[in-house]
Amino acid sequence: MKIITTPEAMRAWSEAQRRHPDIRIGFAPTMGALHEGHLCLVRAAVHENDVAVASIFVNPTQFAPNEDFDEYPRPFDDDLAKLEAEKVEVVYAPTAADMYSEGYATYVTVEGVSNGLCGASRPHFFRGVATVVSKLFNAVKPHRAYFGQKDAQQCAVIERMVRDLDMGIEIVTLPTVREPDGLAMSSRNKYLNAEDREKALCLSKALFHAETLLRNGERNPDVLISVVRDMMQDVTIDYVELVDSATMAPVDTVAGPVTLAAAIVLPTARLIDNVRFDPGAQQT
Ligand code: PAJ
Repeated sequence: MKIITTPEAMRAWSEAQRRHPDIRIGFAPTMGALHEGHLCLVRAAVHENDVAVASIFVNPTQFAPNEDFDEYPRPFDDDLAKLEAEKVEVVYAPTAADMYSEGYATYVTVEGVSNGLCGASRPHFFRGVATVVSKLFNAVKPHRAYFGQKDAQQCAVIERMVRDLDMGIEIVTLPTVREPDGLAMSSRNKYLNAEDREKALCLSKALFHAETLLRNGERNPDVLISVVRDMMQDVTIDYVELVDSATMAPVDTVAGPVTLAAAIVLPTARLIDNVRFDPGAQQT
């Protein structure tokens, strides 16, 4: 496994791969502190492509000054061991100085889809994500890139960006990986103390309950949202919304694929989760 740390060296490696017309490059971007959710993306990148790259980069532009950039876990050696076990060809781990050099001035803003949900409470966030993912794509030059449904709005932002900017990269979204009790895996779960870990469970429980109602025919967003809110009375709710899965705009009925998304703020961490539902794909 090669560890590449500069955009130039990464691009040179990818350009060499791309000289062989049949080789497909799969890519899983991450901020490290890898758990099974990340590793599912990595595994798919390895198995569905000829060569696979995983990146580890804690991206400063997607953190606001009051957020957890400094505390964000960085178990780099453990992460490398996990990626080696998955047999990725390359780990791309650039430094912040290489990614954002003196005088850096260019940002990618994806309008509309970035504005609601997490974009409303973290206005800097998707600009930082779209910018860094563009930069990672330019260095890695993947044919396919893998993202997790856990961050549904991030997936929608990246899909919009790839289409709008003619990037010609296939975006693959994989299901949310959960702990046995239902909590969505997240690098930030490490922040939770015992009390908050217990309280955090109401998030997935409430969403699963609403998902069952959706499957059983409930189509009224207000009903679905209040059911979720009622089950999360012991925690501070940032948002609960039923949105169109592609545009992330609130819907007033369930006609196509929708995402029921929620965020809660616990004293030790802010957590997000969501469930998807497609009335057209429902089994009878
Ligand atoms: P990070 O939070 O490290 O997540 C990297 C990828 O893993 C994302 O696509 C995310 O959706 C996916 N992921 C995280 N938890 C998951 C889970 N429980 N199940 C399935 N997939 C999961 O998301 C980012 O980093 C950054 O914003 C990044 C895209 C790397 C840009 O900096």
